Amino acid sequence: MLFLQLVLFVVLLPGGGSEDDFQEIISFRIILTTSFYNHSWTQNQGSAWLDELQTHGWDNKTGAFSYLQPWSKGNFSNEELMEVEKLFYTYSIRSPSIYHNHVTEWQLEYPFQVQLVLGCDSHFGEASVGFMRIAYQGSDLVSFQNTSWWPSPEGGSRAQQVCTLFNQYHVSSEIVHKLLTDSCPRFLLGLLDAGKAYLQRQVRPEAWLSAGPSPGPGRLLLVCHISAFYPKPVWVMWMRGEQEQRGTQRGDVLPHADGTWYLQMSLDVKATEAAGLSCRVRHSSLGGQDMVLYWEQPHSMGLVFLAVIVPLVLLAGLALWLWKRWKTHWRCPCTDLRSERDPSSPASSTYLNPAQW
Ligand SMILES: *[C@@H]1O[C@H](CO)[C@@H](O)[C@H](O)[C@H]1NC(C)=O
Ligand SMILES: *[C@@H]1O[C@H](CO)[C@@H](O)[C@H](O)[C@H]1NC(C)=O
Ligand SMILES: *[C@@H]1O[C@H](CO)[C@@H](O)[C@H](O)[C@H]1NC(C)=O
Ligand SMILES: *[C@@H]1O[C@H](CO)[C@@H](O)[C@H](O)[C@H]1NC(C)=O
Repeated sequence: MLFLQLVLFVVLLPGGGSEDDFQEIISFRIILTTSFYNHSWTQNQGSAWLDELQTHGWDNKTGAFSYLQPWSKGNFSNEELMEVEKLFYTYSIRSPSIYHNHVTEWQLEYPFQVQLVLGCDSHFGEASVGFMRIAYQGSDLVSFQNTSWWPSPEGGSRAQQVCTLFNQYHVSSEIVHKLLTDSCPRFLLGLLDAGKAYLQRQVRPEAWLSAGPSPGPGRLLLVCHISAFYPKPVWVMWMRGEQEQRGTQRGDVLPHADGTWYLQMSLDVKATEAAGLSCRVRHSSLGGQDMVLYWEQPHSMGLVFLAVIVPLVLLAGLALWLWKRWKTHWRCPCTDLRSERDPSSPASSTYLNPAQW
């Protein structure tokens, strides 16, 4: 089977710049999803994320945050974290009753989901004012801007009614305003600083080629796998020389459990045109040198035959020839030799007993 596998070479060539690898915007988000099953049954699930990395979990019974990274507390003191925890918990306990009490007025239908997202972004080390949005059944309902709630266009009259009610809670609006303009940006910057070593690590991709399921008679699906790289931005292209192959299909960038990423890029080509194609990978961890993997035609059955059978036949022939040679040289002379052996004769030492081989 070894002969059937594709042989690949990884050759490092000088490559272009990595300007598109620089990650400009990093966002921090707290998400709370409340599922309303019936008038007396709701379920809360909360978490916090730095882009796609989960930094915090949330125990919906005690209201305690769990810190999933060693640096998840950023530079906040335990007192300040507990204050945020308390706010979050109070909201998670109280807000469901608002929806339950307005089911008819807002035309809500059990079962339904309400999602809250609160967060802020960092752009080249500057944190923006945060945002807070609420969605009903997966589509935007209302958002908080400046100091009040605003309806989302797709929220219709329901969104208007929700805003009217929420804007009557002046104390809550002040708290939210402070969270968005002060706590969130400050926390994000502290978090990015505390997690710097982890977030700015560079992990080189591993790459290999394989053939995918055949797209049709006489065609090949070439697949370039790029795995275990970090950070996420990566540029990969099937090439013929310096020519990018337009038919390259990019898969989704998928997460590994350790926070690194996986991507596959495929190209559907005529089997006869596969030779000379290569997969080129550009990533910040490669220090400006692209990784290039060349497609080697899988050996045809004829070649396998030549490569495996011919040496076997030759070996068998050689073995046979040696055996015959041994028989003719040793069998008869030996018996003859033994009968007329003279230990003092120097000539006898030129013959060796084959049994001692
Ligand atoms: C509400 O939903 C829960 C879970 O589906 C169920 O166990 C409970 O009996 C329901 N209660 C009512 C009053 O329908
Ligand atoms: C808490 O979340 C779990 C799932 O993560 C769920 O099974 C449970 O019902 C939730 N409890 C409450 C009180 O929301
Ligand atoms: C927010 O308020 C400021 C002044 O307080 C105003 O200049 C700005 O336009 C407001 N933004 C929005 C989106 O309402
Ligand atoms: C945490 O770091 C941020 C950004 O460097 C800073 O503004 C803030 O004062 C620090 N301390 C606290 C307690 O937020």
